[in-house]
Amino acid sequence: MEHNKKQDYSITKSNRVDLNKHKPCLIWFTGLSGSGKSTIANLLEKELHKQQIHTYTLDGDNLRRGLNKDLGFTKEDRTENLRRTAEVARLFIDAGMVVIAAFISPYNSIREMIKTIVGEAYYIEVFVNTPLEICEQRDVKGLYKKARAGEITNFTGISAPFEEPLSPTIEIETVEVAPEEAVKRILEVLKYKI
Ligand code: PPS
Repeated sequence: MEHNKKQDYSITKSNRVDLNKHKPCLIWFTGLSGSGKSTIANLLEKELHKQQIHTYTLDGDNLRRGLNKDLGFTKEDRTENLRRTAEVARLFIDAGMVVIAAFISPYNSIREMIKTIVGEAYYIEVFVNTPLEICEQRDVKGLYKKARAGEITNFTGISAPFEEPLSPTIEIETVEVAPEEAVKRILEVLKYKI
């Protein structure tokens, strides 16, 4: 395969970091559908914004409407969905931003790939741990019902796997921890990162 030579530009990530007055990173939320990833991500972004930190949020449902709209939910498609997303996150990190990402990202191998793409030093993994029964009871989007009825295939937790993260930076057990408290815990870790 032929590769183009990398083109260098004068303004670097380090120049952008100086301008922003904070460092970049990726806060990656992983968890079942309906586990509360987007709720915590949203609250976190509001808090960081208040603190004058430059953020951008990448969300599975949203990216699947544009950049990733050609992809479904087989393991191959999820891998490609998350590879592209990680590459986008890498660009945002290069731009000096704090990136928040909320994706089911159900496989350990995929989360390893994401970490490799963005660089381990920038990667913070948050496991939003909500038991399947609770996600299914809530069923905010009615997807679990459809999955049980066989109307949706490859549905995470029902007809496709969710591998629990092996060593997340932070684990939020949402049955015991409210979103506000979850955000506090994440901010505590970010203090030393950004
Ligand atoms: S993944 O596994 O990371 O590629 O998934 P992601 O891009 O985060 O997309 C998850 C959202 O897609 C909806 N949806 C499904 N989820 C899981 N399995 C199947 N088969 C499926 N079909 C549609 C669902 O709304 C997910 O959103 P969240 O916010 O996680 O509930």
